[in-house]
Amino acid sequence: MIPFINVRAQREAYLKEFQQAENEVLGSGCYIGGPVVQALEAELGQYTGAKHVITCGSGTDAITIALLALGIKPGDEVIVPDFTFIAPAECVMRLGGIPKFADIDAETFQISAESIEKLINEKTRGIIAVNLFGQCPDYKRIKECARQNNLWLVEDSAQAFGATQDGIQACTFGDISTTSFYPAKPLGSYGDGGAIFTQDDDLAKKIRLIANHGSDKRYVHEICGMNSRLDAIQAAILRVKLRHLDNELKMRRENARKYNEFFSAKIVPQKFASGNTSTYAQYTVLAEDRKTFLKQLESAGVPYCIHYPAPLHKQPCFKDLVQDHANTNASEASQKVVSLPFCAFTDVEEIIARLKRVL
Ligand SMILES: Cc1ncc(COP(=O)(O)O)c(C=O)c1O
Repeated sequence: MIPFINVRAQREAYLKEFQQAENEVLGSGCYIGGPVVQALEAELGQYTGAKHVITCGSGTDAITIALLALGIKPGDEVIVPDFTFIAPAECVMRLGGIPKFADIDAETFQISAESIEKLINEKTRGIIAVNLFGQCPDYKRIKECARQNNLWLVEDSAQAFGATQDGIQACTFGDISTTSFYPAKPLGSYGDGGAIFTQDDDLAKKIRLIANHGSDKRYVHEICGMNSRLDAIQAAILRVKLRHLDNELKMRRENARKYNEFFSAKIVPQKFASGNTSTYAQYTVLAEDRKTFLKQLESAGVPYCIHYPAPLHKQPCFKDLVQDHANTNASEASQKVVSLPFCAFTDVEEIIARLKRVL
């Protein structure tokens, strides 16, 4: 069986380091917050260049906390990509805001700056841009658009910790940036986890308060916050993985190169904007005739996923938000995308050998 993501191979590769780190936490008696979490936050800051890093319970919590820190109010419109995982739109809606769905670029699948610009009106308060499948959208243009229209920008980098654009690390493009440590992510823990990044001292203070019941002094609650904290054991695991991340990113890029060389006319790999390096959170292709391609994958014993089978505006939970999205790139992509098995430890040569027999 070829695994879609081989997290077990990764565990075996650094097993001794994991065991030592896990045992240290288990023996320490400090299981939530504490020195290991603080050390991870410092290392994530060093890696990205972000001034403040605050870990939290998940990537979804990270977006929620970011929106709360930015002061979202009921009725505020927030522009989100129409083609991504649901979290950004869901978080806006849960806080009483209105997600406005921007289209994507047809080839890179990233939120389109042009589409964002068209959605801005007097109710718009901010933009959540997603670094989809591991690469960044056009931040030069998106940041300029946010600045000119007095909007805040949240960068959802759940899939792209370690990516760069023009040499600048992901997780530093937003007023607030967020990531997820869900186990399947390029930097994943062994449970839920997330982190929030900002350069702004005041926002950082608010974020820390919100994530810890509105409190920075025991049993004094300045605001009503929430409980969203990273477990020390997850932090210990992430510290081990962070040490290996750059090498894994090289392995991922080499795997992507092999796939890219193999696929051509009928199966088209995701394109990369110049200046971008990707984490390849997903290796995703466009198949003109997806039905046939899926049958071929099945007959070759190659697992796949569809990221994502529908644009978000078509999800039942957003049915009351009547917005016009006829013939968008997001709709077209959702009909054609297929993600293939991918991680640093994926045996891409074996997959290609199997595909050669059926394609
Ligand atoms: C783009 C994006 N944003 C947010 C999230 C949410 O992260 P989590 O699962 O850690 O809550 C995900 C998770 O898949 C994601 O892909």
